[in-house]
Amino acid sequence: MASSIVSMISIFLLFAMSGHALASLSPTFYSSTCPNLTGIVRAAVQQVVASEPRMCASLVRLFFHDCHVNGCDASIMLNGSNNEQFAFPNINSLRGYNVIENIKALVEAKCPNTVSCADIIVIVARECVMALNGPTWTVTFGRRDSLTANQTAANVELPPFFLNVSRLIANFQSHGLSVQDLVALSGSHTIGQGQCGNFKSRLYGPSLSSSPDYMNPYYNQSLRSQCPSSGGDSNLSPLDLQTPVVFDNKYYKNLINFSGLFHSDQTLWSGGDWTVAQLVHTYAMNQARFFQDFATGMINMGNLKPLLAPNGQIRKYCGKVN
Ligand code: HEM
Ligand SMILES: *[C@@H]1O[C@H](CO)[C@@H](O)[C@H](O)[C@H]1NC(C)=O
Ligand SMILES: *[C@@H]1O[C@H](CO)[C@@H](O)[C@H](O)[C@H]1NC(C)=O
Ligand SMILES: *[C@@H]1O[C@H](CO)[C@@H](O)[C@H](O)[C@H]1NC(C)=O
Ligand SMILES: *[C@@H]1O[C@H](CO)[C@@H](O)[C@H](O)[C@H]1NC(C)=O
Ligand SMILES: *[C@@H]1O[C@H](CO)[C@@H](O)[C@H](O)[C@H]1NC(C)=O
Ligand SMILES: *[C@@H]1O[C@H](CO)[C@@H](O)[C@H](O)[C@H]1NC(C)=O
Repeated sequence: MASSIVSMISIFLLFAMSGHALASLSPTFYSSTCPNLTGIVRAAVQQVVASEPRMCASLVRLFFHDCHVNGCDASIMLNGSNNEQFAFPNINSLRGYNVIENIKALVEAKCPNTVSCADIIVIVARECVMALNGPTWTVTFGRRDSLTANQTAANVELPPFFLNVSRLIANFQSHGLSVQDLVALSGSHTIGQGQCGNFKSRLYGPSLSSSPDYMNPYYNQSLRSQCPSSGGDSNLSPLDLQTPVVFDNKYYKNLINFSGLFHSDQTLWSGGDWTVAQLVHTYAMNQARFFQDFATGMINMGNLKPLLAPNGQIRKYCGKVN
């Protein structure tokens, strides 16, 4: 009797101290209501990768652009022209909305009105990293879908490509993410493509950044052939020249070789922050450490500011509120 009172009190204290409401994220959130969620998503992602490997890079970025603006709440999917999809970092750049909508439809067919679009975005990102030979980690569920999107917030919160290392650190810290999360999650740029307009200023000037820049001259030369000084702003170059559809630690080896595509990449090595540069070096030398810290970073980013019941809703279609 006394001991059960003590354990009740300690359970209460645990909740009180960790600040948890009763609704919270959990890996088993859908285990009775949608037991094959992972199987459905995994099969769909494998088809996507088979037909267009880059799409998985785009879907990992979609996760970032959803979660970095008021938490992972699928606000990025709302498709009205005053919404986040039309913010500067996203317009004519972010892609994969239809893929998420199609996977949502597959999930709805098996588990109607059960799984949020926010959770689908989070598990798709994990499946995509796995499908490109990257690490895996345990995903938690129970996020709800927002009723609104905030275009201004997307413009303010998503970091632009010309930021220097101290501003990148500040951006991540303002979202509760650490320096380690910043460096590890930037390793996503080991996959995917970027548009000429976002790195042209590094090749021809004028410099948009308030910190010094330098690029391997051979890499500089080869980018110039892809990216003319006038026009061609939407021409694509791989973020990792040699293995753009393999999730590996080549990104960090490139940085050490002064072959990062964006200023925001190269500044992690050459921006003058010793802690950050040391992490780049560690990940370049040790892929297992990169994989471990990347998984930690994805979990941290995925769990920030979750929208929990009774707030939000489970959208029927990700592109619009019910
Ligand atoms: C640290 C600050 C970051 C900056 C400044 C940044 C900026 C960019 C830019 C400018 C592009 C190219 C967009 C285009 O040219 O259309 C890009 C692509 C990409 N980003 Fe980032 N990014 C950052 C962090 C991240 C993070 C944290 C992730 C994921 C966790 C991520 C994942 C990706 C992926 C996978 C692509 C390739 C997308 C594709 O091929 O469609 N990025 N990023
Ligand atoms: C889960 O879904 C996948 C994809 O539809 C399917 O191949 C698999 O058989 C399903 N597993 C179970 C246990 O229903
Ligand atoms: C949208 O985001 C901006 C910038 O963060 C903020 O000032 C504004 O209050 C937000 N609007 C709503 C409706 O939450
Ligand atoms: C980064 O940029 C800001 C302003 O944009 C500047 O004040 C700061 O000194 C720069 N930091 C570094 C390390 O270059
Ligand atoms: C790329 O090469 C051009 C021409 O030599 C030079 O002006 C520019 O500063 C170089 N870019 C970087 C980032 O090193
Ligand atoms: C460094 O970059 C140059 C030019 O892009 C390339 O030829 C060389 O293979 C790179 N070295 C490594 C170790 O990646
Ligand atoms: C927005 O998404 C909804 C739901 O998927 C869809 O019915 C509608 O056609 C989409 N609108 C646009 C402009 O893409």
